[in-house]
Amino acid sequence: MDKVIEVQKLRKTYRISKGKELEAVKDVSFDVYKGEVFGILGPNGAGKTTALEIIECIRPQTSGSVAVFGFDNLKSANDIKGLIGVQLQSSQYLHHLSLGELLDLFASFYSSRKDKEGQGRTDLLELVGLSDKINEEFANLSGGQKQRFTIATSLVHEPQILFLDEPTTGLDPKARRDMWQLVKKINADGITIVITTHYMEEAEFLCNRVAIMDQGQILEIDEPKKLIDRLSDTTQISFFTDSQIDQNIFKDITKIKKVHASYPKVILEITSLDKISAVVNLLRQNQINFYGFTVKTATLEDVYLDLTGRAYEEGGLDE
Ligand SMILES: Nc1ncnc2c1ncn2[C@@H]1O[C@H](COP(=O)(O)OP(=O)(O)OP(=O)(O)O)[C@@H](O)[C@H]1O
Ligand SMILES: [Mg+2]
Repeated sequence: MDKVIEVQKLRKTYRISKGKELEAVKDVSFDVYKGEVFGILGPNGAGKTTALEIIECIRPQTSGSVAVFGFDNLKSANDIKGLIGVQLQSSQYLHHLSLGELLDLFASFYSSRKDKEGQGRTDLLELVGLSDKINEEFANLSGGQKQRFTIATSLVHEPQILFLDEPTTGLDPKARRDMWQLVKKINADGITIVITTHYMEEAEFLCNRVAIMDQGQILEIDEPKKLIDRLSDTTQISFFTDSQIDQNIFKDITKIKKVHASYPKVILEITSLDKISAVVNLLRQNQINFYGFTVKTATLEDVYLDLTGRAYEEGGLDE
């Protein structure tokens, strides 16, 4: 597969006050392949935006190298900028211009642009579901509509890679799902996508591969499903009982990794789904009344917990 981005041993140190430095990105290396959706998943302050902005030629690295389509980010920024579309974590636009006028303005920034006025800009607004807002001002859009419009502006020059920095943060569940559909649609048109997110569920749903980033470092990179399979072979069963139980009753069922009984809740970790019926049978044989029986398979969240030894920070949990 073709590599479209190559990042090697990337480091970024910010000077934050006299004599004080903060290492925001520490020795990060990864490749992005043509046509994939590559996710960078991590909590606030992990270094996601910093890493992205270096690749986007917005800020220079302290050391390490970045190549986009073989162009070095420090030597050939203009070549790179013509090939990439960038959605920043937050965007501002000129007041009193309509969406149609703003798209014309953005198109005028690119000498090599295809015709993005007329039909082109209508197509772009249709793609992002804002056809009926062509004469509206940006300030009058909802949060989700603003994010989708920003994506339209980043596509005016028909880039080959699109960078999305937390496009769904702050959106309600419906707007977030609309954004997922849009990302899938853009990717289906052959555009490679690099996306950062706080949301495990989003990374699992959208990304072909995901880099888990924490405190400036990448801890793992793989397909979400492989990360989950590799790092957690555990399924969790939980239920409530209406009386205290002796947790030793489960000891004859093999492939139970852990039993945690704290009346009224019981949590069992099993390594084979076949054991669910054995647990139910055992409860019936022992005439234990149980309710709220749930089975939860591993998610990226468990992977994160495994890698860092701590729960995902507030705000990073799925809604
Ligand atoms: N311009 C800057 N000057 C100094 N420090 C900075 C600057 N930008 C970011 N930092 C620091 O670098 C670290 C990484 O920040 P960054 O914005 O890259 O994280 P992030 O993963 O994008 O976080 P979030 O999820 O909140 O957007 C943080 O500790 C932040 O305070
Ligand atoms: Mg950020």
